[in-house]
Amino acid sequence: IAEPTATDKRVLLLKPRGFCAGVVRAIDIVKIALETFGAPIYVRKEIVHNRFVVDELAAKGAIFVDDIDQVPSGMRVIYSAHGVSPAVREQSKERKLKVIDATCPLVTKVHVEAIKFAKQGYSLILIGHRDHDEIEGTLGEAPDVTQVVSSVEEVQTLQVPDPEHVAYLTQTTLSLDEARDIIQALKDKFPKIAGPHSQDICYATENRQTAVKNVAHQADLVLVVGSNNSSNSNRLVEVSQNLSTRSYLIENSRAIDSVWLDGVSTVAVTAGASAPEVLVEDVVAYLKDRGFGSVEEVEVMPENVRFGLPPEIVQAIQSAP
Ligand code: F3S
Repeated sequence: IAEPTATDKRVLLLKPRGFCAGVVRAIDIVKIALETFGAPIYVRKEIVHNRFVVDELAAKGAIFVDDIDQVPSGMRVIYSAHGVSPAVREQSKERKLKVIDATCPLVTKVHVEAIKFAKQGYSLILIGHRDHDEIEGTLGEAPDVTQVVSSVEEVQTLQVPDPEHVAYLTQTTLSLDEARDIIQALKDKFPKIAGPHSQDICYATENRQTAVKNVAHQADLVLVVGSNNSSNSNRLVEVSQNLSTRSYLIENSRAIDSVWLDGVSTVAVTAGASAPEVLVEDVVAYLKDRGFGSVEEVEVMPENVRFGLPPEIVQAIQSAP
């Protein structure tokens, strides 16, 4: 097979890609808090799952901690976009912390559903990844009645006190295909299972996966810009691989192994919901340097979602001198 020439090597830049409304909001909250109240501002967990974003905010004076007990009492703390459990809220109260909540409103929606189902006496099945910050937070709303499942196999071994009174919810950043299979397995096992009014997988997760699905067949390689711990970024790699298009998750251009480009004429580039555009630009520049002369943006659907800031931040802005 002839090696592609520079004239036929191209980049397809997927749209929508990168930052979602919840990530934009969370980063804005940290920046505004730093500007309004001054450093240091504590942030519980990574504000969003991206190393570059976290390092940039840390350089401006944000202090990232894993646990509330690492925040000195009386200080200001921001909860990450992934949300927190009621136990964390309680701990913050005990330490008299000034809390700013950057939980994505679409994660809060799932918390509200969890509380509602638990109050109505349902056993709750939470579809998601046990070690993810979001699941830790949602699970904490009703830990005594909630079980986490992450595969169809796990559904088979589930036991609940009353199979007639079961409900399910999902993490916001799952693979749509995988979630559909798990939900179907739950419906087969518990025909009366209740679910959320609208799906919990968020618009940004869905749109980025749909874009990969639409374009992967035109590419020899799909590069997904995102951090290793970013759930929605990992799912984009899987979506592409399931369509038999080779795909890698990369933190930035330095993570690209040039061997991946051997014999490749079309590279599709996308980014997870927490990956900044500057890293996408860096990847595109790397590809251009290697002869991928044409860069074409492929918009699969429009996306214009914006979320308002939380009242703590709105008040701070209003009362700033
Ligand atoms: Fe929110 Fe979805 Fe982004 S849940 S933080 S809009 S990936």
